[in-house]
Amino acid sequence: MNKTDTDQVLTTLQQRVSHPRLAEPGPSREQLDALYKAAMRAPDHAWLRPWRFIEVSGDQRELLGQWMAESAKEDDPELDDKQTTKLSNAPLRAPLVIIAWAKIVPHPKVPPIEQILATGAAVTNLLNAAHAQGIGAVWRTGNPAYSPSLKTRLGLKEEDAIVAFLYLGTPTGEAKPIPGLAPADYVTQLGQADR
Ligand SMILES: Cc1cc2nc3c(=O)[nH]c(=O)nc-3n(C[C@H](O)[C@H](O)[C@H](O)COP(=O)(O)O)c2cc1C
Repeated sequence: MNKTDTDQVLTTLQQRVSHPRLAEPGPSREQLDALYKAAMRAPDHAWLRPWRFIEVSGDQRELLGQWMAESAKEDDPELDDKQTTKLSNAPLRAPLVIIAWAKIVPHPKVPPIEQILATGAAVTNLLNAAHAQGIGAVWRTGNPAYSPSLKTRLGLKEEDAIVAFLYLGTPTGEAKPIPGLAPADYVTQLGQADR
């Protein structure tokens, strides 16, 4: 890679931000393919390929919202109407929602946590690839990510894990400032861990 390419890659990685306000259009199929190709280069112990992605767009977002609300009510019958409505409308906040989940398999050397971490790494690659293409994206979880009832509705098994609801679309509103974090505040040398 020449220096210009290297600088561009580093700038992309160093300037990614989330975009909570997203409008039409969503990413094209070509752009999505590029996202998934990046996702699939995430580090992955024993090459288990645990990551899975469910695309939800158009009217299907209403069905997802309905499933989120029904599942939440099943998990917590006390849930009030305001919270249920909020969940029903949640997927409508972007043209495309991608549910990233980890398909967990038993493995003598790769515990479930590593399969979930690999899927999280895939999600990060996907977000960076979205940013590189000017696609707005935000990683969300919330209670639906931990709802056994929603997992069942989505066709996942008990051992599987929902890692992210990725909201994608065209960024709107003011560009978010890039926080100026100092790496030195997060790095120590051996024996000097800052607790
Ligand atoms: C595992 C995980 C779950 C998250 N869940 C939510 C969420 O449910 N709602 C939300 O507003 N932000 C959530 N976030 C944070 C946003 O994705 C985002 O990182 C945050 O708003 C900071 O913005 P930035 O990415 O531009 O620094 C989550 C992040 C991670 C890593």
